[in-house]
Amino acid sequence: MTIVGIRGASITEGRADFPTGFVWGAATASYQIEGAVKEDGRQPSIWDTFAGTPGKVAGGDTGDVACEHYFHYADDVRLMSDLGLHAYRFSVAWPRVRPDGTGPVNPRGLDFYSRLVDKLLEAGITPYATLYHWDLPQSLEDAGGWPERDTAHRFADYARAVHERLGDRVQHWTTLNEPWVSAFLGYGNGVHAPGRKDPAAALRAAHHLLLGHGLATQALRAGGAEEITLVLNLAPVITPAQVGDPAAEPSPADAEAVNRIDTLLTRQFLDAALRGRYPAELLEIVERNGGLAHIRDGDLTTVNQPIETVGINYYNPCVVESGPGEAADAAWPGSEDVRFCAVDAPVTAMGWPIVPNGLSRLLVRLADDYPEVGLIVTENGAAFDDVVEDGRVHDTGRTGYLDGHLRAVHAALAAGADVRGYLVWSLLDNFEWAEGYRRRFGIVHVDFATQRRLLKDSALWYREVIKRNGLRGN
Ligand code: FCB
Repeated sequence: MTIVGIRGASITEGRADFPTGFVWGAATASYQIEGAVKEDGRQPSIWDTFAGTPGKVAGGDTGDVACEHYFHYADDVRLMSDLGLHAYRFSVAWPRVRPDGTGPVNPRGLDFYSRLVDKLLEAGITPYATLYHWDLPQSLEDAGGWPERDTAHRFADYARAVHERLGDRVQHWTTLNEPWVSAFLGYGNGVHAPGRKDPAAALRAAHHLLLGHGLATQALRAGGAEEITLVLNLAPVITPAQVGDPAAEPSPADAEAVNRIDTLLTRQFLDAALRGRYPAELLEIVERNGGLAHIRDGDLTTVNQPIETVGINYYNPCVVESGPGEAADAAWPGSEDVRFCAVDAPVTAMGWPIVPNGLSRLLVRLADDYPEVGLIVTENGAAFDDVVEDGRVHDTGRTGYLDGHLRAVHAALAAGADVRGYLVWSLLDNFEWAEGYRRRFGIVHVDFATQRRLLKDSALWYREVIKRNGLRGN
């Protein structure tokens, strides 16, 4: 029996066929793969400083060398081509393009991305460029960083400079990757660069990131960009009972806890970017944590620019319940009386629970609540402790994770969600932020001593998925 969904997704006895034109790809980010931190005029970013500070990153790892993609990009594009990728999502390093954040544009920094884009196009791979994947020029942090309004304007200047150079060949642009993480891990709990721990600064950073998104979107649009995306780390916020039973009815206190965390994670960004307003619950939290003075008249009109797609980075659900007496978590200002719960499910090497139906639930919810925008899964994947044996990596855990989540995307398509593509995180094993190199997310194994790349079994499997535009029956 074949069931055809309204978006052209169909299921035949466990086989999942994706709609024609569905975009298959992989994602990376500049600081995680490029290395070459002193090459061609690049200056330090907040991640160079943070990783260079003892005790901040596991094993004292830094991005100094990483995958040396800056030198091996042509080989890496060959790998992508061998896998049959339609699209490659990469990020541009601000400290290569405007090394001190405000001064002149550095053409040699832009040259690298120009060469990369040419190689991608030659290979028939569509470039998806992200402008900010967390590597703020250190000089801008020295001037106050994202908690300062001026950073938003500097970001728009930088966005314009990148578009001027690449806009003749790149049509798919993402302004920010995961502004929640930049603001609340960077300035809230300090687990990420620049490592500050100040709830009021984190909330100001979130607003200025959104303002930067709006200003950069205006600049990109004026330059003629076709598709503009805001990429968010999103998750369904659910109670422990809802992990196994989505229909479980939360108590009023649990429902309030869920709503508060969803406000901080989802609505803070999507209501602002897509509707031009902050939820009232958010404004109460901001008022209690430093006040509202930084939100100026007209800002939300600037933030609220038309965009084509929201990018979803999904790894696991966010599970909470009411927890009277709990102090606010440093990453979640305003989360007093909320308990963050462990989930009874298998976990990846990050300790993240594997809950594929969280992705279908999330996509369907976004389609219902924000029907005006298209959706694309811009990151999804898993770290496992891979072992190289006789020149192979039998990463069945990762393949199972990806298969389960692709079935979840397929279920969302069949339910009518406008999901346009799926980009696996990540193409290559890389510098996993505070976890350093000990966490491997790649479908391609990297031997960091020799820079040799090796396709893991998950990459071979993904190549088949792309070729058949879907998943086989079990
Ligand atoms: C996301 C980041 C990405 C990667 C994955 C595992 O939050 O955007 O760079 O580290 O997590």
